[in-house]
Amino acid sequence: MKILMVCLGNICRSPLAHGVLEHMVKERKLNWEIDSAGTGNWHIGEQPDRRSIAVAKKYGVDISNQSCRQFQTDDFENFDHILVMDQNNLSDVISLAQRDADFGKVRLFLKNGIVPDPYHDDKQFDPVYHMIEKRCLELIEELDTNR
Ligand code: 4NP
Repeated sequence: MKILMVCLGNICRSPLAHGVLEHMVKERKLNWEIDSAGTGNWHIGEQPDRRSIAVAKKYGVDISNQSCRQFQTDDFENFDHILVMDQNNLSDVISLAQRDADFGKVRLFLKNGIVPDPYHDDKQFDPVYHMIEKRCLELIEELDTNR
């Protein structure tokens, strides 16, 4: 199972979803590969935002060794599920899809609604973390066929 988390910058939301799900998968010894990417190119090569690193650390997840990268068309082939944080990410990723199979891999990370961009509001990092953590637990229940 290969899952790619996507947001705009790949420094706030998708690194959290990547790190939290990867942490849960390791705890459960699942043979899943988790990664993240941004639709934008501003932060390529950078660490996640310090506020995402801090909130993850507060709850026992280390995301400090992640490095920002941009979403690329190869990702459609390399991943089984491409989970995006909001409608803009959805349309940006879908605009790069070419084959029928590509479209079927992309959907919103949350079942109902979007993960809001916390970049301009320090107070949003904690609620965003919890939103992501809850959904990652659900994703394991949904996608772990050995349960
Ligand atoms: P993210 O947040 O998409 O959750 O990583 C953002 C981070 C940076 C920018 C936009 C969104 N930016 O414009 O630099």
